[in-house]
Amino acid sequence: MTPDGGRGADRIGILDTGFRTALARLDRAGLLARVSRTVDPDLEVAGLMKRHDAGAALLFESVKDHEIPVVGNVFATPESSEAAMGLDRAQLRAALARGIHTDVEPVGAAAAPAQEQVWQKGSINLGEQFPVLKHAPGDGGRFVTAGVLIVRDPLTGVRNASFHRLQLLEPDRVAIKIDHGRHLGRALDHAQELGQDLPVAVCVGTDVALIYAASTMGALMPESRDELCAAGGCRGQGLPVVPGVSVDVDVPAETEIVIEGVIKAGEQAHEGPFGEFVGYASPAGPAPTVDVTAVTARHEPVYHAINGAGRETIVLRKHVLEVAALEAVRPVTPIVTDVCMPSGGLHRFHLVMALSKRSERDEGWGRNAAMAAFGALKDLNMIILTDDDIDIHDPVDVEYALATRFDAASDLLVMPGMRGHEYVRTSQAGVGTKAVLDASVPYAQRADFERISFEAPSEEGSELDAAYSGATVLSWLGGQHA
Ligand SMILES: Cc1cc2nc3c(=O)[nH]c(=O)nc-3n(C[C@H](O)[C@H](O)[C@H](O)COP(=O)(O)O)c2cc1C
Repeated sequence: MTPDGGRGADRIGILDTGFRTALARLDRAGLLARVSRTVDPDLEVAGLMKRHDAGAALLFESVKDHEIPVVGNVFATPESSEAAMGLDRAQLRAALARGIHTDVEPVGAAAAPAQEQVWQKGSINLGEQFPVLKHAPGDGGRFVTAGVLIVRDPLTGVRNASFHRLQLLEPDRVAIKIDHGRHLGRALDHAQELGQDLPVAVCVGTDVALIYAASTMGALMPESRDELCAAGGCRGQGLPVVPGVSVDVDVPAETEIVIEGVIKAGEQAHEGPFGEFVGYASPAGPAPTVDVTAVTARHEPVYHAINGAGRETIVLRKHVLEVAALEAVRPVTPIVTDVCMPSGGLHRFHLVMALSKRSERDEGWGRNAAMAAFGALKDLNMIILTDDDIDIHDPVDVEYALATRFDAASDLLVMPGMRGHEYVRTSQAGVGTKAVLDASVPYAQRADFERISFEAPSEEGSELDAAYSGATVLSWLGGQHA
């Protein structure tokens, strides 16, 4: 079986993963809402993004003091993520799996829309040029949050792509947040060992395959992996790139805005606080700085912004972590039919696994598979096992399984002292407890758990189906609730 659940991989072919193509697809699918009134980049835009981040992408056409529109919540729901790529869930998983496993070298682009406008050193003022948002009242300033940073490790020559927020410090100087263990941090260490600064290109509003490569971490995208090649693997053909105008770094030719610069070896500034994906603020602290050497953009670019404590940050990892979970458990047992990283667990901390037990000999395999998933995805802290008559993509159905098929005395496995994510505040610097909630029915008792099924309506598309709108129901009720 393929990591997408057995379908889709052979159907995806070559993908157009351009950022503008993605926005156009969302628009056609009715998943791009336009905000035409003038909005303030100081807290208002991010506040609106947060309020609506379970819905459509938002295009803020008129941003106070700026010519450039802001787009947010582009990948904030699984539906938008799939529509942006023009794929269904199985196909998107297949495309991401292809990127994880296949290298396709970038290709030199004939044209470079990303460089239609160029600002050299001396004429750069990031805060004036771009509608860089202040996201939350507790944040330490204005942050570029949707930039994919491309660097070439000076020791290994491998190109790395990753998201790192940038805090505006001066017109052409920013602080950069690099968490422990990041490959960008390793490349910076290598540059420092060689006594060099590290050239970087920050791509805002860039190729979606590259966005996914940059969101992919850990064993799925090891340090040795060239992430421009991984993006090519996901697309099914090489990513068109051009060299930066001031740094020797390849950038996707169709990027909206590129901030070029060098990460300064040994120079630090005060960064943060900033509202993080877990919903709490990360504290202020010292951070490396970037000296901006040039800025390039398309004609009439759009500025992509992502709320740190918003759904887009976490949804960007959902599909790829589901691929990782499937790849970890499938070699253990074929009884896992599907997995879901649900939104309540921030698409990262909780996993629901559907099992298909065909005989008593399948008993126990679900729990073994859970151990494999914990091993592969260290941030997981809870796994729920269900039978495959439960819709694991529907949180209500999953809770129904827990309510009717789970008994804590026999179905709860508790494993303290295990490594998880250090942002989980109930842990001790990342060491905490993992749990399996086994809501799968023992094979021998399955007859007792047969769900009630109702008679199918005799006439498909009957008058009743057609009339089943809120207004009609209210009129049947006598309109008393109107
Ligand atoms: C929207 C978004 C913003 C992120 N911001 C940061 C950040 O500011 N600092 C950081 O260290 N990681 C951040 N991350 C996480 C890394 O970019 C991500 O884990 C990446 O895979 C790490 O790259 P690497 O595997 O090349 O080290 C962010 C991820 C996303 C999706």
